[in-house]
Formats: sequence, structure tokens, C-alpha cells
Amino acid sequence: MAIKKIGIVGAGTMGSGIAQVAATAGFDVFLQDISQDQLDRAVHVIGKSLDKLIEKGKVSEAKDTILSRIKMTKDLTVLKESDLIIEAVFENVDVKKQVLQALDNLLPSEVIFTTNTSSISITKLAAFTSRPDRFMGLHFMNPVPLMTLVELIKGLQTSSETFVQVKELAEKMGKVPVEANDFPGFISNRILMPMINEAIFALMEGVGTVEAIDTVMKLGMNHPMGPLALADLIGLDVCLNIMEVLYEGFRDPKYRPCPLLRKMVEAGYLGRKSGRGFYKYS
Ligand code: CAA
Repeated sequence: MAIKKIGIVGAGTMGSGIAQVAATAGFDVFLQDISQDQLDRAVHVIGKSLDKLIEKGKVSEAKDTILSRIKMTKDLTVLKESDLIIEAVFENVDVKKQVLQALDNLLPSEVIFTTNTSSISITKLAAFTSRPDRFMGLHFMNPVPLMTLVELIKGLQTSSETFVQVKELAEKMGKVPVEANDFPGFISNRILMPMINEAIFALMEGVGTVEAIDTVMKLGMNHPMGPLALADLIGLDVCLNIMEVLYEGFRDPKYRPCPLLRKMVEAGYLGRKSGRGFYKYS
């Protein structure tokens, strides 16, 4: 089946970025979220990002043409016309289960479901649906409009046909797909998150200040941003969730989340999105 209409569930940082990239690539997009505030924020963020990319000549079409391809909705049933689903809701198994089961009841069995989960087992999420053969991981990086990589993750039951179709879709969206196997954190977060977690341990133990740790990694290792600034960009709650998945998945103490990370999440310091993380944002 030719994919023309993409249904995206969750209009947070990742969902809105994915919607922007899909609409820029010419797909019709349904972007659903239960929160009107989140949908309003998505319109604003997508508009601002498109302005930047158009100004730099990286996007050639008019902003309004691209935006006209995105239909924002609070109503999940609007997604029943979708040719493919990208689930990008909060990184919690129970929330994802509820959404995936609702979609499974709504959409014909031939429609492929993908999930943008950053670490949860694809096989487990696929098993919540009646189409585990047409289900796989399609993991984008933040900020989605700027980062070229997507990870493709097959669950135990994902068919080769599904994999090929989703790989082609990722390429049409201008991304470079890399295949990862279904282990906790896949490739990206298996490597990135322990580095961020270790940077937080270094801060907690007083090895260096926030600025010192980030400067060492930027100027010493040529990372585009330091691990603490990156944690703020990703969201400290997301980082903690991923560390928990690694820790529970491997039962190896090397993945234990840093107590300072946990404390900051408890305090509501979630990074850029809450105005405060390791840095303050106005
Ligand atoms: N859309 C359009 N333009 C954007 C943008 C967006 N979403 N975000 C930033 N920009 C623009 C900025 O406005 C800026 O433009 P000007 O130069 O015209 O001012 C330009 O990009 C550069 O931005 P900055 O000056 O703020 O900073 P930078 O040069 O460091 O680039 C960055 C920003 C691309 C984010 C870069 O720092 C970077 O690549 N950082 C690492 C990101 C990364 O590692 N992402 C993966 C996270 S892990 C993940 O996502 C997976 C997971 O499951 C958790």
C-alpha cells in the first residue's frame, strides 16, 4: 500500500518534529494529542522551525503550504484514514499500551504501526496489538528537523515487508536509517544515556561544575553540545525513564540512574521544557 497519509499520536517535542519533517516531505499528516495546549505549542514550534529552515534555504516550499498538510486534532478517530501510524506519546508502557490498543481497534489490519520509543522493547509494544508483524520501531533524534539519523528496530515478529516499507518511508522523509536490534535503549540510548548519566555523577561528586563538564566534552571531544546541556534538551524525565529501562532490562548496576538526576526530576527541573534543568532558560 502506498503511504500518503501519516497519523502521529503525541504532539510533544518528538511528535511535532516528526509531523514537520513528514509534511515537509509532502505527506499529509494527522497530528493528535489529548492536550489543546500541546497542539497549540506544536503549531508555534513547527512554524518557528520552518521560518529558520526557509530563511537558510534548507526548505524550498512556502511555510503555509507545508503547514496546510498538517491537521491537528484532539480526536483519535480522525486518524482512521491514516496509511501508517507513528506513536510518539509519553515514554511509559501503560500509556503506550492504551494508545496502541485504541488505534488497533480503529485502523484496518494492513496499516503499519511504528513507535518512536527511545528504549522500550518493540516486541513488547507490538504484542499489545493484533498486528505484531506490521509493527516496528522508528526512532527519531531530537531536534527532529535537524538530525539525519533514524533507528529502525524490528520486533521478534516484524515482517521483512514491513521493514522495507518503513525504511523507504524514512528515506523519503530525508533521513538516514540505521538498523538496530531490539535490546533496551537500542544503539543510540545504550551509548548516549550512560554518558549523560556519568556526567551527572561527575557533577554530583564535585568532579567539575556544570560548565566545566560541558566545556570538556565540547572542546575536548568535539561534541556539538555538552552532556548536561543535551540532557536539558532531551528532557531530564526522559533521560531518567531511559536509564530505568536500561537498568531494569540488563539488571547491571552500571546502568543505575544517578540520584541527582532522580532528585532533579522530583523537583520538576526537567530541562528546557520546564525552564530549568542544569541550566536556566527564560
Ligand atoms: N529547527 C530549525 N532550526 C533549529 C532548530 C529546529 N528545531 N533547533 C535549532 N535550530 C537552529 C538554531 O536556531 C540555530 O540557528 P542560527 O545559527 O541561525 O541561530 C542553529 O540551528 C544552530 O543552533 P544553536 O546555535 O542553538 O546551537 P548548535 O550550533 O549547537 O546546534 C544542535 C544545535 C543541532 C541541536 C546541535 O547542538 C546538536 O547537534 N546537538 C546534539 C543533538 C543530539 O545529540 N541529539 C540527539 C539527542 S538523543 C535523542 O534524541 C534520542 C533519544 O531517544 C533521547
